[in-house]
Amino acid sequence: MPVIDIHNHFFPREWPDLAARYGTSNWPRIKHNEPGKAEIMVGDRFFRQIYSACWDADVRLQEMDRDGVDVQVVSATPVLFAYDRPIEHALDCAQLFNDSALELCTQGKGRLKSLCQVPLQGVDAACRELSRCMKAGHLGVQIGNHVGEKNLDDPAIITFLHHCADEGAAVLVHPWDMFGQLRMPKYMMPWTVGMPAETQLGIVAMILSGAFDKLPRKLRICFAHGGGSFVFLLGRLQNAWQHHPVAHGVCELPPKEYLDRFYVDSAVFDLRALKYLVETMGPDRVMLGSDYPFPLGEHRVGELIRRSELPSVTKSRLLGENAVKFLGLSASTLPDAKSPRANEPIHTKADQLTYSSYLRVPDLLQLQHPQSSPQHHDELLFIIVHQTYELWFKELLHDLDAVVRNLRDAGENPESPDEVYEAARLLRRCTEITRVLVEQFTILETMLPTHFLAFRGKLEPASGFQSEQFRELEFLCGLKDEKMLRYHKPTPEAYAQLERRLREPSLHEVFFEALQAMGKLQIDKNVSAREQFEARARAVASLYRDEHSHRDWIDVCERLTEFDELVVGWRLRHIQLVERVIGARMGTGGSAGSSYLKLTLDKKFFPELWQARTLLTE
Ligand code: HEM
Repeated sequence: MPVIDIHNHFFPREWPDLAARYGTSNWPRIKHNEPGKAEIMVGDRFFRQIYSACWDADVRLQEMDRDGVDVQVVSATPVLFAYDRPIEHALDCAQLFNDSALELCTQGKGRLKSLCQVPLQGVDAACRELSRCMKAGHLGVQIGNHVGEKNLDDPAIITFLHHCADEGAAVLVHPWDMFGQLRMPKYMMPWTVGMPAETQLGIVAMILSGAFDKLPRKLRICFAHGGGSFVFLLGRLQNAWQHHPVAHGVCELPPKEYLDRFYVDSAVFDLRALKYLVETMGPDRVMLGSDYPFPLGEHRVGELIRRSELPSVTKSRLLGENAVKFLGLSASTLPDAKSPRANEPIHTKADQLTYSSYLRVPDLLQLQHPQSSPQHHDELLFIIVHQTYELWFKELLHDLDAVVRNLRDAGENPESPDEVYEAARLLRRCTEITRVLVEQFTILETMLPTHFLAFRGKLEPASGFQSEQFRELEFLCGLKDEKMLRYHKPTPEAYAQLERRLREPSLHEVFFEALQAMGKLQIDKNVSAREQFEARARAVASLYRDEHSHRDWIDVCERLTEFDELVVGWRLRHIQLVERVIGARMGTGGSAGSSYLKLTLDKKFFPELWQARTLLTE
């Protein structure tokens, strides 16, 4: 996989006198002083010293070879954005630099790609220029993190981002025009302090305004400089979200649930910061970005990632694989990884994947924290058994979500048997897992009631009622009971997740919608709930009557019935355990204990599948 740097900049060698072209002052211009060096001026103010790598493809390619970079995705420098100018001037200016970027790329022997810029202050012009650039060969767009006083949650910018998603354009958000500059006149503080805060502001504005809820998941957006201060202060944001209504915003989920909606680059210049970034964002969300060829960029591009102790698979993702996805490229359209430097240091022995590092065994073994003091011998068992249940609940949710997707696809495409087969196959796994879960209670029954009572007092008010995943499983399968949300008030993330599950179609709904789509079920919404129930049961019975034509669907029905049966078995065994350990005592969650739990034995996910049995005749 080639090494790809998604964040670096260029300036053309020359461009027209913009002040004269538009009749206004203070436009950026380039002043060549000596061979290979130039100054960028804004009007008469010195802005930055640059060197020939900015405009000379050969110099870039040589330095890429030196650093082991195969592909650079170049973008303009924010000083060229012109968002505060009349739209027509900013558009014309964008076109000049966008076409220059493509010229540079043509000299890059297939190793230089580009992102365009747009007049973001005018959404129509911005969309038109983006479309033009995508046709011309740009891979996406670089935008500033604000337009004047408007942040990224501004409706016009959201419209533009929708357009980017539709065009398949990758979006790189770059901080610029930093706030508080009057208080940061010295030491490049706008760059070192202002820029990270600007980027954080961009991300937070998008999350809390619900922009990510509205924008399609296919939007590929990346924030420069590791997302600025966002990741380091995510805990603070999360805390505010949970404990202060004003900080809550209008987003559907807690802030940290949006980390899979955007990428960040690796320009953080510190090994521990990179490690934390990857741990927080996930190894699929960080990409090599260098800010080359500016002094505040990485001086040996990619060195930070290569020197890190990240596993080699993660390094490969950061150095190229994630960029291929972000840019919407196929690996075959990219040049081969040429430089041996690109891969050599990634595969050192020291960072080879091991059993332990892959499975995060040390982390896993750190997760048991008994409350009793001195520690009661059996509390470790109590914790481990519950944790094991939660891990299996996670797998069940993972598989059942896939079953829902398969059955939905089966409904949309009734002629294709593959999805039904796949649903049945995964349901078989779910029944086998649940069988293990029923059995597991016996391990806890090795704990004497007196031993449990010795530390039970430490657990209150924690209770099985608060198992978010158990409730998610119920909601996902079709037993949606909004009242149960009250147990999750202390954990807003769980609350929000369960609310989402309540809204989403359940396995029950998707299953019967598929039967409807196949013409096996006609539901008259005007008849009573009981009559609708009977209609669904009759539809199931009709499948069984024609076994020859519906083997695959009958298989799904049988697996669902078995799953239902096993979950009732789970409830029963849990009650037996409860009675064996605490008798008729109240629960730590405040219920009447086993007498309450017995009421849940009548719960079934798919009662129609059971009713169908009554309808069948010899
Ligand atoms: C000594 C062992 C256990 C005792 C004494 C016990 C007790 C109880 C009690 C009394 C309740 C009713 C709610 C309340 O008032 O707190 C309950 C609910 C629950 N427990 Fe347990 N439990 C034990 C082990 C487990 C284990 C190993 C799991 C595995 C995940 C589990 C999962 C649940 C769940 C999911 C609920 C909610 C059930 C529902 O609402 O239908 N419990 N437990």
